Amino acid sequence: MALRSPSFLLLLLSSLVTVSALSAIEGDEEATLLAFKAAAISNGYNDPPTSWNRSTTGWYCSWEGVSLMIMVIRSNNLSGNVPLEIGHNLKHLKVLNLHHNNLTGQIPASLANLSSLSYFSLAFNQLEGTIPTSIGILKDLSVLDLGFNNLSGEPPISLYNLSSLEMLQIQWNTLSGSLPTDIGSRFPSMRILFIYKNQFTGIIPASLSNLTSLQELDLSHNMLKGHVPSTIGRIRALQNLCLSCNMLEADDGKGWEFIASLSNCSQLKLLDLSNITAFTGHLPSSIVNLSTTLQFLGISATGIWGSIPSAIGNLVGLEFLGANDASISGVIPDSIGKLGNLTEIYLYNSNLSGQIPSSIGNLSKLAILSAFSSNLEGPVPPTIGKLKSLFALFLSSNHLNGSIPREIFQLSFSYLDLSYNSLSGPLHSQVDSLQNLNQLILSGNQLSGEIPESIGKCTVLQDLWLDDNLFNGSIPQYLNKALTTLNLSVNELSGSIPDAIGSINGLEQLYLAHNNLSGPIPAALQNLTALWMLDLSFNNLQGEVPEEGIFRNFANLTITGNNKLCGGIPQFHLVPCNTDSVKKNRGKSKYLKIALATTFALLLLAIVIALLIYRKQRRKQKGAFEPPMVDMLYQTEPMDSPKPICLDFKALVFEFMPNGSLNRWLHIESGMPTLNNTLSLAQRLNITVDIMDALDYLHNHCQPPIIHCDLKPSNILLAEDMSARVGDFGISRIISESEKYGEGSPVTTFGDVYSLGILLLEVFTGRSPTDDMFRGSMDLHKFSEDALPDKIWEIADTTMWLHTSTYDSNTRNIIEKCLVHVIALGVSCSRKQPRERTLIQDAVNEMHAIRDSYIKCATGMILQ
Ligand SMILES: *[C@@H]1O[C@H](CO)[C@@H](O)[C@H](O)[C@H]1NC(C)=O
Ligand SMILES: *[C@@H]1O[C@H](CO)[C@@H](O)[C@H](O)[C@H]1NC(C)=O
Ligand SMILES: *[C@@H]1O[C@H](CO)[C@@H](O)[C@H](O)[C@H]1NC(C)=O
Ligand SMILES: *[C@@H]1O[C@H](CO)[C@@H](O)[C@H](O)[C@H]1NC(C)=O
Ligand SMILES: *[C@@H]1O[C@H](CO)[C@@H](O)[C@H](O)[C@H]1NC(C)=O
Ligand SMILES: *[C@@H]1O[C@H](CO)[C@@H](O)[C@H](O)[C@H]1NC(C)=O
Ligand SMILES: *[C@@H]1O[C@H](CO)[C@@H](O)[C@H](O)[C@H]1NC(C)=O
Ligand SMILES: *[C@@H]1O[C@H](CO)[C@@H](O)[C@H](O)[C@H]1NC(C)=O
Ligand SMILES: *[C@@H]1O[C@H](CO)[C@@H](O)[C@H](O)[C@H]1NC(C)=O
Ligand SMILES: *[C@@H]1O[C@H](CO)[C@@H](O)[C@H](O)[C@H]1NC(C)=O
Ligand SMILES: *[C@@H]1O[C@H](CO)[C@@H](O)[C@H](O)[C@H]1NC(C)=O
Repeated sequence: MALRSPSFLLLLLSSLVTVSALSAIEGDEEATLLAFKAAAISNGYNDPPTSWNRSTTGWYCSWEGVSLMIMVIRSNNLSGNVPLEIGHNLKHLKVLNLHHNNLTGQIPASLANLSSLSYFSLAFNQLEGTIPTSIGILKDLSVLDLGFNNLSGEPPISLYNLSSLEMLQIQWNTLSGSLPTDIGSRFPSMRILFIYKNQFTGIIPASLSNLTSLQELDLSHNMLKGHVPSTIGRIRALQNLCLSCNMLEADDGKGWEFIASLSNCSQLKLLDLSNITAFTGHLPSSIVNLSTTLQFLGISATGIWGSIPSAIGNLVGLEFLGANDASISGVIPDSIGKLGNLTEIYLYNSNLSGQIPSSIGNLSKLAILSAFSSNLEGPVPPTIGKLKSLFALFLSSNHLNGSIPREIFQLSFSYLDLSYNSLSGPLHSQVDSLQNLNQLILSGNQLSGEIPESIGKCTVLQDLWLDDNLFNGSIPQYLNKALTTLNLSVNELSGSIPDAIGSINGLEQLYLAHNNLSGPIPAALQNLTALWMLDLSFNNLQGEVPEEGIFRNFANLTITGNNKLCGGIPQFHLVPCNTDSVKKNRGKSKYLKIALATTFALLLLAIVIALLIYRKQRRKQKGAFEPPMVDMLYQTEPMDSPKPICLDFKALVFEFMPNGSLNRWLHIESGMPTLNNTLSLAQRLNITVDIMDALDYLHNHCQPPIIHCDLKPSNILLAEDMSARVGDFGISRIISESEKYGEGSPVTTFGDVYSLGILLLEVFTGRSPTDDMFRGSMDLHKFSEDALPDKIWEIADTTMWLHTSTYDSNTRNIIEKCLVHVIALGVSCSRKQPRERTLIQDAVNEMHAIRDSYIKCATGMILQ
């Protein structure tokens, strides 16, 4: 079985970084091929174009087996040009997928010779030049993905002749020109059209509304002008419509009709109109008639004014509402409380006024509420205390008054910013209940009373900003050790600076200026190696200024306005400490001003930017289409009578497996477990799902079935994205259907299921079945079974918890439920009696359900 075109193959191979899974070709050839298909399937191959029939065993098998038909060399480090040879020699290719490499140069026109091509991806390379005109010859193309390259110029008119296209992705290039006016009659089957991040000009053709199969349309980040077609709602199947960052227009006179039209799209999930400054006028009230399936509504950074329609509560499916940086005014409608699935609300930099409705407390999934820099007034509603999923609350720079409601301290959020309002009253001592609090920013209010000692118990608090308030009393003796920034400037604090501050090793910035602090500067502050900013100015500190650490750094230290200090480095020109006089030398203080306000503004900006990025990523995740991935390169000999079985193929998988084998991640060979050498629970779930998908494929979807025979962590390879591939088919067996569950047969699928069960237990307990602790009748199976269900925490691999940042009871329950299910599944797959073991087809379904349920809960809670 010779490779047809060795020179071509070498050409490709020479630029590969690593050829992994090569051991596989030493084994049984047939098994190998199928195995690689299994690997492909476990790699997320789940959305083939409808022209491919996956329900037959191996869709490729039914094709005439004449020559190389599928070539996928994905996520490698191929460099140089796309080889012209592909176009000359591989005329029967149906699938050509070279995405995620480092290919440069132009797309060769000779690719047009691949007249059978139905799937073509060169996405994520660095290709330049124009899209060749000859591409129009590829009449069978159903997927064309050229996104994320550096292609330029106008797409050839012939592109619009590819009438079989179901997906066209040319996003993230610098393509220009305008969309053809008759685009609506060109692509009767188009489902996904991604044109975003290019330089298209002109209008959105009205005929686009005739692409009635379209589900996802992303035209964002172009320079499109004019009105959105008012008939766009004819695309009944539309789910995602993203038009953001264009020069489209609408005002109270004309241009908003499309919103009413969209109410016909009963499956609409995403509508992003943000960053279109020429969208002005009132927000059309018909927006509340959009489908209740709508999850994402973005109108940020538009010129829209007027109030949010009071019937916004109709959009019950809404999860994301972005209306920041717009001229939206009026009050936040009470009906917002009906949007029970809302997780993120962005209303900052708006003209919203009035009180925050107390109905907000009904949004039990709300994670982020960001409404800073508006004109909100009145109290912070105590009902916020019901928002158990709240992660970040940003209400700074409004006109809120009253005290900080006690209820707020029952939550477990990470970011609380109420700065620059008119809040008064004390900071409640219950603040220590906020065990996940990372940032507490209350600057610029009229809060008073003592800073509660209990604040030291907020163990993960990193940034504490209480400056510019009326706090009095002394600085809490013991602050938590995670602090990096502490700002207590401009208050009425007295007493001395606690020595314990000198043991907060990670402290980077300390601002205590403009208080009535007295006593000495603690010498321990010299030991804070991370400290790069210290402002102690305008207090009554006295005694010797230390000379080491931060005190050597004249530029970033301010001690001015403390008349009784002495010593220190000469630049301060303080009197030496052994003299009595402490009255001289103040002149240099003008060099030592620190722009507190600037630092603060920068921090705020950083948070906002972080959130924006986070938001953007999330949105892209929702909208993005991940093309099917098949990792195969195989070659067949001509055959007299092609049969629909898979025995006549050879396969090679070339994929860089930078993360090595699963074994390495479960059993660290040297050093301490860290975030970087261990796996989170979610990663373990994903990996086991991949493995089980592959095994299910081998057993039940291959004809004849394949038994792996050697399933263990060292045979599982992890790709760059930590997805798993089953490797090493060195001792695999092909069996006949009758042998599959055969009594007395030495190899059956039951054996693989046993290995799988043990592997599951190993993955989640971190214990190898050959661990020294397993002796006599105690083995990994029994050890795990005995722990069900109450002692699950005792057997779970503790390195997983390195990746978990929250430990509230809700999170614990979710983790516990997941572990109990997964260990029970492992136990049921590894029973002594083969016939008692769970069937792989059932196990795989259960594993999917366990993983999906965990991921869903986990994302809802910790937002990652
Ligand atoms: C796939 O092929 C099988 C067998 O040829 C056939 O029964 C089935 O209807 C096909 N499915 C689709 C969706 O075409
Ligand atoms: C592409 O090449 C550059 C340098 O030549 C390298 O830094 C980068 O990692 C490569 N990308 C991939 C996907 O291998
Ligand atoms: C990819 O190849 C380039 C040179 O062609 C090399 O500089 C780079 O390190 C490679 N990337 C990886 C991830 O190996
Ligand atoms: C098609 O391939 C032949 C070689 O087989 C080559 O001569 C010709 O130039 C190719 N066609 C195009 C359009 O490149
Ligand atoms: C993309 O092409 C433009 C010119 O068309 C060039 O200026 C730019 O450097 C290229 N970018 C990359 C990443 O190659
Ligand atoms: C597009 O197809 C039509 C009819 O099939 C043909 O007449 C026309 O020349 C084609 N255009 C291009 C640019 O290939
Ligand atoms: C949409 O298609 C219909 C026929 O299906 C046609 O009458 C109409 O002109 C088309 N609309 C546009 C704007 O091209
Ligand atoms: C908003 O749109 C303008 C023009 O389309 C663009 O220059 C700018 O980068 C966009 N801003 C964001 C945040 O995307
Ligand atoms: C809210 O979210 C849940 C879970 O995602 C979903 O089942 C439910 O249908 C959603 N509610 C509405 C009204 O869309
Ligand atoms: C600073 O650190 C040194 C050594 O780590 C220690 O001996 C000394 O006591 C510390 N100084 C203060 C004032 O804590
Ligand atoms: C002094 O502060 C600046 C920022 O204001 C910082 O970039 C710099 O690293 C600091 N210098 C030292 C020596 O810590």
